[in-house]
Amino acid sequence: MKVLTKEQININVDELHTISNTDLADLCYNTEQAIKAGGGFGWITVPPREVLKKYWNGMLLINTNKLIVGRLNNDIAGSMQLSFYPSNNEAQKTIARIQSHFVAPWARGYGLAKAMIDYAVAKSKENSKNSIQLDIRETQTAAIQLFESKGFVKWGENPQYAYINGSPIKGYYYYKKI
Ligand SMILES: CC(C)(COP(=O)(O)OP(=O)(O)OC[C@H]1O[C@@H](n2cnc3c(N)ncnc32)[C@H](O)[C@@H]1OP(=O)(O)O)[C@@H](O)C(=O)NCCC(=O)NCCS
Repeated sequence: MKVLTKEQININVDELHTISNTDLADLCYNTEQAIKAGGGFGWITVPPREVLKKYWNGMLLINTNKLIVGRLNNDIAGSMQLSFYPSNNEAQKTIARIQSHFVAPWARGYGLAKAMIDYAVAKSKENSKNSIQLDIRETQTAAIQLFESKGFVKWGENPQYAYINGSPIKGYYYYKKI
């Protein structure tokens, strides 16, 4: 596990349009660590590396998605998908969605997740969106605290949002006017 003092930290957020081999390796490694820590955006067990590589390369092919990455001293340490609705969906064309937001366990607590949310809000405004929406498992307490501290409002719950080892897990739904 890497341990860094705050003075050694340089945080940066950007958007990937292509993935270098180094960035792909970082994304796969961090996804594995996040899954093992219990927050691998849907995965419960770590899939083979090839599956993760296909997943991340596939992300770039979805033209309604922006793949936002958070870097700690230039290494990717977290990511977020910011998605917009396809152009046929006029009723929801001003709504953005945040999905699969995570920071690798070794990089948590340095403000990287907050910086990615700020970037997503700025990008959404730039693209004429007026609302951002997302959903979170009730067990993701850090993320719940984080989004509520950023002004996201909880509007609903789904008691059967996900199933872990056969047991239902509640999900919370949030929106924020921007
Ligand atoms: C939620 C997550 C992204 C936070 O990443 P991070 O880089 O550590 O967060 P930041 O340092 O930017 O922000 C810290 C804020 O998050 C919240 N937070 C972080 N860890 C927390 C914890 N253990 N308990 C409660 N709140 C916590 C607090 O609001 C904190 O703000 P504060 O420092 O002012 O109190 C990270 O813990 C994670 O990847 N979790 C698993 C995946 C997940 O839940 N994703 C969200 C799905 S939408």
